[in-house]
Amino acid sequence: MEVPKHVAIIMDGNGRWATNKGLKRSEGHLEGSKTLEKIALHAMDMGIEVLSVFAFSTDNFKRDKEEVDYLMNLFIKMFKTKFDKIAKKGIKVVFSGRKNNLNNKVMDAMDNMEVKTKDNQRGILNICLNYGGQEEIIDASLKLALDINKGLNIDSFKREDFYKYLYQDLPPIDLLIRTGGELRISNFMLYQLSYSEFYFTNTYFPDFDKSEFNKALFMYQNRDRRYGGINEKNN
Ligand code: FPP
Repeated sequence: MEVPKHVAIIMDGNGRWATNKGLKRSEGHLEGSKTLEKIALHAMDMGIEVLSVFAFSTDNFKRDKEEVDYLMNLFIKMFKTKFDKIAKKGIKVVFSGRKNNLNNKVMDAMDNMEVKTKDNQRGILNICLNYGGQEEIIDASLKLALDINKGLNIDSFKREDFYKYLYQDLPPIDLLIRTGGELRISNFMLYQLSYSEFYFTNTYFPDFDKSEFNKALFMYQNRDRRYGGINEKNN
């Protein structure tokens, strides 16, 4: 069975999960962080090489200060201590996103996680934090422009060559999962999603367990990926 190399998840529905249970939205984020830890370990067990997750978008700063502060403190707590299991299990953690607007404590916790796991080989967890897909393309284009100014010859520049200008040089996304019932991309990894298969589920992220993840993998394995071409065996 073919396993996708790079899976991405838009972890949506934490707030509604909590509200439906009469809890505060923050409880949903806390539960979501526990789910993320389990799913990351499971994904690597399934042979997936890269898992990208949308933890906080550049637009999430529009939320109430209380919720933003809660999430930032949760990130600090998770990266400083709670993600130890991820580090010990050999997963390398990297981050994608802009560094502006993030306070020093959050950036220190992110650095700490990256340094602690930099030599890990088992798989990569790419956490998109203060991230926007259009912003990533703009930031990459600016880096490319600098190289062009320095004399880079772009006559034979190919779409694959653009990846090294993105926040992380990762393979294209094979499978995108969005939990929480919405049917949109919300400015997530636009460049890397070009030929990705999409899987949408109504399940809220805190309830997205291993068996839910396996359903998405099963769907992927039954899709016919043609990349704009024709699959001979179906004609
Ligand atoms: C979307 O649900 C989720 C977020 C904005 C935050 C995602 C964060 C986590 C899963 C927590 C832990 C992450 C790390 C990296 C430790 P929502 O709040 O938009 O839910 P709603 O659509 O039901 O309101």
